[in-house]
Amino acid sequence: MKPQITQIKKVINNIWEGKEIGIGVTGSIACYKAGEIVSSLYQSGCRVTVLMTKSSTKFVSPLTFQTLSHNRVLTDLFDEQYEFDPQHIALAQRLDLLLIAPASANIIGKIASGIADDILSTLVMSIKPSKVIIAPAMNEKMYLNPIVQRNITFLKKAGYRFIEPEKGQLACGTGIGRLPSPDKIIKYLAPIFPVGRHRDKSQ
Ligand SMILES: Cc1cc2nc3c(=O)[nH]c(=O)nc-3n(C[C@H](O)[C@H](O)[C@H](O)COP(=O)(O)O)c2cc1C
Repeated sequence: MKPQITQIKKVINNIWEGKEIGIGVTGSIACYKAGEIVSSLYQSGCRVTVLMTKSSTKFVSPLTFQTLSHNRVLTDLFDEQYEFDPQHIALAQRLDLLLIAPASANIIGKIASGIADDILSTLVMSIKPSKVIIAPAMNEKMYLNPIVQRNITFLKKAGYRFIEPEKGQLACGTGIGRLPSPDKIIKYLAPIFPVGRHRDKSQ
């Protein structure tokens, strides 16, 4: 039994190894789940770059993601260190995938409207829709709001992929809008990466 488990782990690691993934984190109570996603991807051999909105830093500290990703966390579009190397352009070219989890109603609305006013929304505008996966997390009333639903429908038509939220216990009552478990999110991502494409991590 044990050698079989090792074999499965090896296959999973081969899928991720050498890939670069961006994790966009926005201001939701579900921010804490992003830590486990980041940690799993890093342990699977992925280079992970976390981008946080200002609101999300109220829920989880950038230091948490920096530690789990073993990488610098991007929170500021106008970081002086990168004056001559805009991160959103360099990163947009390098990333195999951008996962936004948890995705707030606000970021969904901003993407649908073409707003690029922080590091995450600017990156999204610089990357093709098929590379972006959005995992909404919010209160049921927010999720079912016709404007949010209209934005989601519009973005799906534009080529953005969504991980559907689940029904269950939310911070304020029960209903639809809960971010799926980190395990489920990782399983959703696995078939999307082009297997066998390896890249030098120093790039
Ligand atoms: C305690 C608390 C929890 C929140 N949880 C959510 C949430 O789960 N989903 C959501 O869309 N907004 C949530 N919000 C509201 C967002 O943080 C707010 O709309 C913010 O402007 C989002 O900004 P961002 O998209 O730039 O991160 C929450 C706010 C508070 C104070």
